[in-house]
Amino acid sequence: MFKFSGITINKHILLAISGGIAAYKSAELVRLLRKQGAQVRVVMTHSAMQFVSPLTFQALSGNPVHSELLDTDTEHAMGHISLARWADALVIAPATANTLAKCSHGLADDLLSTLYLAASCPVYVAPAMNQAMWHKPVTQENIQKLKYHGVTIIGPEQGDQACGETGFGRMSEPVEICRCLMAEPTTQCLSGLKVLISAGPTREPLDPVRYITNRSSGKMGYALAKAALNAGAKVTLVSGPVLLSAPANAELIKVETAAQMYTAVIAKATEHDIYIGAAAVADYSPALVATQKIKKQAGQTTLTLQKTKDILADVAQLTKRPFTVGFAAETHDLEQYAQDKLTRKNLDMIAANWVGRDLGGFDSEQNALQVFWKNGQKTLAMTDKNHLAEQLINLIAERMEPKNT
Ligand code: PMT
Repeated sequence: MFKFSGITINKHILLAISGGIAAYKSAELVRLLRKQGAQVRVVMTHSAMQFVSPLTFQALSGNPVHSELLDTDTEHAMGHISLARWADALVIAPATANTLAKCSHGLADDLLSTLYLAASCPVYVAPAMNQAMWHKPVTQENIQKLKYHGVTIIGPEQGDQACGETGFGRMSEPVEICRCLMAEPTTQCLSGLKVLISAGPTREPLDPVRYITNRSSGKMGYALAKAALNAGAKVTLVSGPVLLSAPANAELIKVETAAQMYTAVIAKATEHDIYIGAAAVADYSPALVATQKIKKQAGQTTLTLQKTKDILADVAQLTKRPFTVGFAAETHDLEQYAQDKLTRKNLDMIAANWVGRDLGGFDSEQNALQVFWKNGQKTLAMTDKNHLAEQLINLIAERMEPKNT
């Protein structure tokens, strides 16, 4: 059974439902939220009311359902303002592609979109739509915009869809949405600790114009930096070349090659309590870097590569070592390789992810992790990398506790 460590929170949750088949799941969401002690008020778009009757939500929430922007029953007919003021959190679930587009562009032509503009509380959005609509670049741009504006995106999940297709776009389960809403925003579980994180790819030059690199975007490592900062830590981020802005409060050390990343991480490691190796470091670099552009030749050519130094393994060998967390990026035999790296590199924990698949891993907004430590493991389901990073940071804090006491 689902339980949030017995905490009852008297939160005011404003649930906004837009018109998708997943609206039926929102009934369960209301039930779960109320079970946690939350007060719930429900707003529905006209399309949402085609899928589920407002009566269902009225009965479950114990409050009348709102759907009209100009509600003459409300004092001064400004229901959107009083509802927005009442809410401790606004959750839009399901959020259709249309609703996402309206919110990201600041349109306010119905109660739901006007509430989004009027709300100054934290906003959570659980998208639900056909997989092709989800993958459409314009939808992804809208999601990025909402994230940029501080909205927490929950899901969506992968699986069978009501339209008969399979893919990414199912609304997250009510239990997951409830968990996000009820989570303490700042648990400060790393308060007073220093965290060193490596992120992004490395570039190994061949000559002045070419290099060998990989598909890492840095999103996972940067999300971890943000989550560690939110958990109260001081963060140093050693980053390969990426197109992301580092969190303002992190100390950023920019590097390019595996050798530069090695020097930067080893120099800083003993000053930190935790090291998380989320970077995709090149295992090999060209043995010789040409000083001039290598000219095209007839036939084949051969590159001689030499092994780079293993940053993670060397951090774990330091006498005053931080709690050392590695990543494992695998296309097959995930658990076997992850367990091998955990032992061989003498790590405290390893977070393994699948790469080379449609979803998750390199350059994706989402990821899933199988986390292993000596005699234990935990699966963190596919979700937004920011949410995943929060879960990994909490797990690291939990696993460190026995060491701190
Ligand atoms: O950056 P994103 O696009 O968000 O993608 C995220 C990610 C897939 C890059 C990330 O989740 C991830 O898996 N990072 C580790 C990638 C990797 O290099 O995995 P690996 O299995 O090859 O290496 C195992 C561990 O050794 C890693 O912690 C790596 O940082 C470390 N390593 C590897 C080689 C080396 N010379 N030094 C190292 O420290």
